[in-house]
Amino acid sequence: MPDNPVSKLRKYPVSERTNQLSPSGIRRFFDLLASTEGVISLGVGEPDYSTPWHISEAAIKSLEKGYTMYTSNSGIPELREALSRQLKADYDVEYDPDDEILITVGSSEALDLSMRAILNPGDEVIMPDPCYVAYDPCVIMAGGIPVKVPTTEENNFEIKATDIERYITDKTKIILIGYPANPTGAVLSKEQLMQIAEVALHNHLLVISDEIYAKLVYGEEHTCFASLPGMKANSVILGGFSKAYAMTGWRIGYAAAPAEIIAAITKIHQYTMMCAPTMSQVAALEALKSGDDSVAEMVDDYNRRRIFIVKGLTDIGLSCFEPKGAFYAFPSIQCTGMTSEEFAEKLLTEQKVAVVPGSAFGQYGEGYVRCCYATSLADIEEALSRMKRFVNRYYKEG
Ligand SMILES: Cc1ncc(COP(=O)(O)O)c(C=O)c1O
Repeated sequence: MPDNPVSKLRKYPVSERTNQLSPSGIRRFFDLLASTEGVISLGVGEPDYSTPWHISEAAIKSLEKGYTMYTSNSGIPELREALSRQLKADYDVEYDPDDEILITVGSSEALDLSMRAILNPGDEVIMPDPCYVAYDPCVIMAGGIPVKVPTTEENNFEIKATDIERYITDKTKIILIGYPANPTGAVLSKEQLMQIAEVALHNHLLVISDEIYAKLVYGEEHTCFASLPGMKANSVILGGFSKAYAMTGWRIGYAAAPAEIIAAITKIHQYTMMCAPTMSQVAALEALKSGDDSVAEMVDDYNRRRIFIVKGLTDIGLSCFEPKGAFYAFPSIQCTGMTSEEFAEKLLTEQKVAVVPGSAFGQYGEGYVRCCYATSLADIEEALSRMKRFVNRYYKEG
């Protein structure tokens, strides 16, 4: 038989680098969930609110006016200017809208491109474990090596500067942190962040700070990493509109960083995305102009649900660290003797409640499950009563 180049290609369709990635532990659960009826989902990490109407309306009006073309690669100037003003007003940090802010397709794109723009093959990126599911893959896809720093419930799942220091090698290039954190809801205090900043400066490391949940904090004040002494020049801030403004489907995020980093990120952005969706940028601008009241209402509501779910989980015997930000509770399920995957799978099939196994977020997430409380109080109440039946059935003494 003649050599067939097509069949050869078919035999090796994907790169070794892609083969290194494991499929998201969250996605597998969503597939299971989609095929089961009557499920209460504490699974998906997104607001149950629709986007506030005045924000959607601004986008609709822009379509009516015919704003349907590409924007500049960096994003519409008005949006970059408004973001720059907001970062100054909220955190007293100054970013030049012309060359220090890039509007991206969700903060996901900003994370991916930051890694690709900065890492050389074999560079190490220090990050907490457990952490957001995209951190490892983005580092691996950029040719880097994720290095995990364990965080534990005893330490409120906070990543400590002293622990970070122990994992630094001559290959370390980036410290990647995200707070408020997904999946734990942990926040880091200004003092803790200052200590991380000192370690970064001392070791000439860049900090990438994922602050997508910055506005979702309860009784705490968010500190923007770039506002710490010496850190604006040594950090990349990732942010976005998905969570605080209930705009997950609009896909708008941003990176704020020194001009040379933004220029490098923009080089990849211009050849891949070209620009973020035009009408979504208009919506994001409206969110910045007049979305504060809606955010405050949603935050109040999440806070009520947070208090309710943490108490509820504790009452049914699942000890739960108090999350101070985002919209996740991360209870321990060790009293059942199950792995987090067994727990989540059985809970879904037997009681029709969806949670995400902690192991999806890293080795140190084992023994926990993530419960997203961005859902109605009535659903949380029903989910808790189903979980109570489940825990009573499988509870194992000591
Ligand atoms: C910690 C964290 N960072 C980034 C993202 C991505 O958000 P988006 O791309 O919608 O801005 C998420 C979404 O769940 C997240 O939890």
